[in-house]
Amino acid sequence: EKLLPPYEAIGGEETLSKLVDAFYNRVGQHPDLSPIFPDNLSETARKQKQFLTQYLGGPALYSYEHGHPMLRARHMPFEITPTRANAWLSCMRAAMDEVGLEGSVRAEFYNRLVLTAQHMINTPDEQK
Ligand code: HEM
Repeated sequence: EKLLPPYEAIGGEETLSKLVDAFYNRVGQHPDLSPIFPDNLSETARKQKQFLTQYLGGPALYSYEHGHPMLRARHMPFEITPTRANAWLSCMRAAMDEVGLEGSVRAEFYNRLVLTAQHMINTPDEQK
């Protein structure tokens, strides 16, 4: 079997576009996430499609347009708590289910996202 970059293994632009749309549909409705996102998520989704394309080994669409991702720095204006990271990942799992992303390619992609999401955390959860 030929070894494909994950971008191609998941089905390229078509799958990624469906995944990101399914993801932001959930983000926009999630009580922990919607308050920190813009009401109109189309530009956010466009950037995320560019970013995930290069993250998965496809063309460097994000960097061509926006330069170095510096993802943690770009998230600093927002309070990214452990609760929000878990919510982000739960929206992503549900979106992966919706588009039928399964098997080892899903597992490897998802496991990387867990690490990236943890890296974005910049604020502790409120103490009760
Ligand atoms: C942008 C939240 C994790 C990739 C954003 C924005 C918010 C946000 C509020 C700004 C949206 C906008 O103004 O359009 C979060 C939260 C996360 C998280 C709560 C939980 C851990 C991640 C992860 C990735 C990621 C894991 C990548 C795998 C991006 C990208 C942008 C973005 C590419 C656009 C940056 C730009 O403006 O150029 N995120 N994010 N985020 N996020 Fe996240």
